[in-house]
Amino acid sequence: YLYGLSQGGVAPAAAAPAAASGSLTILYGSQTGNAKGVAESLRKLAADKGISVSVTAMSDYKPKQLKKESHLLVVVSTYGEGEPPESAVDLHEQLKKGKLGKLDGLKFAVLGLGDSSYEFFCQTAKDFDTFLAKAGGERVVESALLDVDYQAAAASWGEQALTSLAATLGGAATACVAGSVAQAVGHSQFGKENPFPARLSVNQKITGRDSTKDIRHIEISLEASGLHYQPGDALGVWFDNDTALVDEVLALAALSGDEATAHGTLRAALTRHFELTRLHGGFITGLADISGNAALQDLAGDKAQINALVASAQVVDVLKRFPTALTAEQLIGLLRPLTPRLYSIASAQSEVEDEVHLTVGVVRYPQQDGTLRSGAASSYLADRLEEGAEVRVFVEHNDNFRLPANPDTPIIMVGPGTGIAPFRAFMQEREAQGAQGKNWLFFGNPHFTQDFLYQVEWQRYVKSGLLSQISLAFSRDQAEKIYVQDRLREAGQEIYQWLEAGAHFYVCGDANKMAKDVQEALLEVIAKHGHKSREEAEEYLSELRRAKRYQRDVY
Ligand code: 2AM
Repeated sequence: YLYGLSQGGVAPAAAAPAAASGSLTILYGSQTGNAKGVAESLRKLAADKGISVSVTAMSDYKPKQLKKESHLLVVVSTYGEGEPPESAVDLHEQLKKGKLGKLDGLKFAVLGLGDSSYEFFCQTAKDFDTFLAKAGGERVVESALLDVDYQAAAASWGEQALTSLAATLGGAATACVAGSVAQAVGHSQFGKENPFPARLSVNQKITGRDSTKDIRHIEISLEASGLHYQPGDALGVWFDNDTALVDEVLALAALSGDEATAHGTLRAALTRHFELTRLHGGFITGLADISGNAALQDLAGDKAQINALVASAQVVDVLKRFPTALTAEQLIGLLRPLTPRLYSIASAQSEVEDEVHLTVGVVRYPQQDGTLRSGAASSYLADRLEEGAEVRVFVEHNDNFRLPANPDTPIIMVGPGTGIAPFRAFMQEREAQGAQGKNWLFFGNPHFTQDFLYQVEWQRYVKSGLLSQISLAFSRDQAEKIYVQDRLREAGQEIYQWLEAGAHFYVCGDANKMAKDVQEALLEVIAKHGHKSREEAEEYLSELRRAKRYQRDVY
């Protein structure tokens, strides 16, 4: 699958003649593949207009190149607390610090993807828009800040932006389209919108009976799919909502479920096509409008209360507090389309062939009234799918999380909790390669006896010498918490030596706390053992990132 590799990079040679009047560059910063998908459809739109265009991932783009651009479209998503996706971090930082100088004469437009239930909605897109304008760029259309159901809006904005850009692109030769036609080559016939009906073959709890966590080792057969993946890729999983949950929602909205919708009966639509577990602010405000309930309207007028509810409850919990008779159209109008969940793949095909393994933490959280709510996809895999049953999946490639091309290069892997998943894939791959590079794993979880995921496998790798070092942080086995970043600091001198010897450094797992704390620890290690100032340490880490030697898969 040439996909991903073949598409990035520079404009085809055929574009050269058009360069005098300018050609279009589309830069995308994607984490779950949505921004990449939008960038690809913009490429098509541009090509249809006869515009010479090249599409590049921000992580494959030399920021200094920006000075040479004449027409630029930025497509970028936003994560967590307004942060850029991994692949956009470097370009974002350089623009923010004004390191790329003046960009006079640059015509640009920005398309942002985000989720309006988060406070810092589309922040990264807003940042790019601000930075580019500040550097002297000319905004040709207002940036689009799009919510989770972005498809149609992205297409119409693209039409508008490309029309504006085309006006100054000077009769770009239609001949230049040729270079972008090759993109379809190498696609498997299965993808996000056309998932492969795979089989669940193994669902095994790998945390102990007394664990606070329920983590599953899942195996899925991809036999006859033609799907391929590399270590570092993710598996997209489409799921059905729980029937009991669907029934509860229907009852609270005084609906039977037999009502007709564009997706079949309302019951079928709620099961397969709409999000019931991820609450969003629009559901609360929309329901308040329809119901006219004063208490609900009070709540809906208070941003802090909405945020608190969104973080802790599901659609059904809001309906339980404020039961409201709705029509099928009203209910569906309040809900968002269901989106598949992505899981970092925990296996390598060199080891497991046409299987794919996942490490799934089952999300469960109690409500104030004592009922237990579950995460949609994780409980689908863990509780509702029989072994042997069909599960719709696709591969989401992630070129920002890859083993070093050279098997002799040492690697450091930090993966507490389910963040361990891709490193199991890495070790399987390196074993199959007979890789000579040293491997060092940092793993953490609450208790050694309950939560040491894949313990036997790591021990085998230590014994065989494949795993040179393993550093463990069982956070609750002693009075004070010990985390992976504490182990990193303890081993700081050696970590720095590994980095100086060319090691790649990988982090997978929780984005909001762990990955930030690990990065802070890493900066301290670099400063202390490299005898650097804080600023020099930050520059050292940025260099590692640019060289793709510091890669993160965090969520
Ligand atoms: P805790 O739950 O005992 O606090 C995987 O979830 C492991 O990561 C657990 O041992 C968890 O510890 C730990 N963890 C929690 N917060 C963390 C943080 N900020 N940095 C690193 N590890 C953390």
